[in-house]
Amino acid sequence: MVSAAQKAAIRDSWAGIDLQAAGNAFYHQLKANAPDAYAVFNLGGDAGKIAAQGLKVMTFIDGVVKGLDDMGGVKASIDNLGQRHTGYGAKKAHFGPAGPCLLAALAEVCGGKFTPAAKDGWTALYGLISDGICSHLQ
Ligand code: HEM
Repeated sequence: MVSAAQKAAIRDSWAGIDLQAAGNAFYHQLKANAPDAYAVFNLGGDAGKIAAQGLKVMTFIDGVVKGLDDMGGVKASIDNLGQRHTGYGAKKAHFGPAGPCLLAALAEVCGGKFTPAAKDGWTALYGLISDGICSHLQ
């Protein structure tokens, strides 16, 4: 459940964000703080692969943020993404450690816009995405 206030805080913090910078920050966080999850992506230290994968994840999240007025559509796209993740070797256990990595990456790239309200909103939104993907995983 993402409240109207949380949606507003998410939009404010995300406005004008550099998707590539956010993606790079997320994978650097994962590499440092969630190595088991990072390993599943098979990126090693390849900056080009990290950049490409980071952009994919943040482009998906950008679509979610743009769709927050249509939660049915958001949930359907997360459900599809979760189905695809069954073929990637991802496990439920990877998603707990990945959450703080996403929040830390957003704190880096959003700077002063990552207010306590934004953090609260993103925590709720990550929960929605993570629960939706994990409902397909073991
Ligand atoms: C916020 C959470 C996450 C989001 C939004 C997300 C999104 C995506 C997207 C958009 C792709 C590109 C392929 C596609 O669209 O199906 C992808 C690929 C992938 N994801 Fe996720 N993901 C998330 C978390 C995770 C986690 C925690 C894992 C497990 C460690 C994981 C494992 C993978 C793998 C292995 C791929 C395939 C990479 C490749 O092309 O080789 N994902 N993810």
